[in-house]
Amino acid sequence: MGRTMTDSSGLARRHLAAAAIARQAGDLMRRLFLDRDAIQLSFKGPQDYLTQADAAVERLVRGRLEEAFPEDQFYGEETGGAFGQSVWVVDPIDGTANFARAIPHFCVSIAYAQAHVPMIGVIYNPITEEFFEARRGHGAHLNGRRMKCSDVSDLKRAQVELGWSPRRPAAAYVAMMKRVLDAGASFRRGGSGALGVAYVADGRSDAYAELHINSWDCLAGLVMIEETGGFANDFLAGDGMAKGNPLLVAAPGIAEAFVAATGIDAKVNA
Ligand code: IPD
Repeated sequence: MGRTMTDSSGLARRHLAAAAIARQAGDLMRRLFLDRDAIQLSFKGPQDYLTQADAAVERLVRGRLEEAFPEDQFYGEETGGAFGQSVWVVDPIDGTANFARAIPHFCVSIAYAQAHVPMIGVIYNPITEEFFEARRGHGAHLNGRRMKCSDVSDLKRAQVELGWSPRRPAAAYVAMMKRVLDAGASFRRGGSGALGVAYVADGRSDAYAELHINSWDCLAGLVMIEETGGFANDFLAGDGMAKGNPLLVAAPGIAEAFVAATGIDAKVNA
């Protein structure tokens, strides 16, 4: 996986730690998923699921990271934190609605950023046992195999994913879907932004767009897109790290056409 002998900025050590912690988190998630009936379900807002498993997994990940890297900051979807110059950004269960409804499409997502540049991304679906990982300058891998964006060059042959949440008006989503369909693409919604972006890095999906997504949902995947030569909009523009932004990632051959179809520009702000 191209790990270096020298590690002056601690990236290789952080990458190894994040990978080990994601696997531990995955083991816990799998146990909780299989024993889902014992889990209490609640809502943070409309269509915004929360399970006791989210809190348990975040507790594990946060505890392990704080123990290993007391000098770093931490921001988690469930417990918050601070976005500093050396920060871990974590979604303990991305795809919580799927988890709650017995659909095995969810993951733990762990990203590490230095000076607001995402450097390490690790995403693990413990049910399919797919382990996606990337470190800036060292490629992106799925279960040890190098990932690569698809070489599609025509939206009429493209399979894309459109994310959705009620954080933006329904009319804006309907308009975007119509434009994407009019441009000839086929679309789906999987319900996990992190996996949606990782799938583009792996070429199994050709693009992903969402009118607003949070950094904990997509930062890890963005390292994978960078490492596989995919296109990404300027998601961190403005205060994207803390407040989220529109997101668009795409295989390079359809990036321009997909930007035009979705209306999500290279430079955006929520
Ligand atoms: C959500 C998922 C969903 C995306 C939403 C996210 P959660 O995160 O990633 O696919 O469309 O924007 O909020 O609630 O499952 O962690």
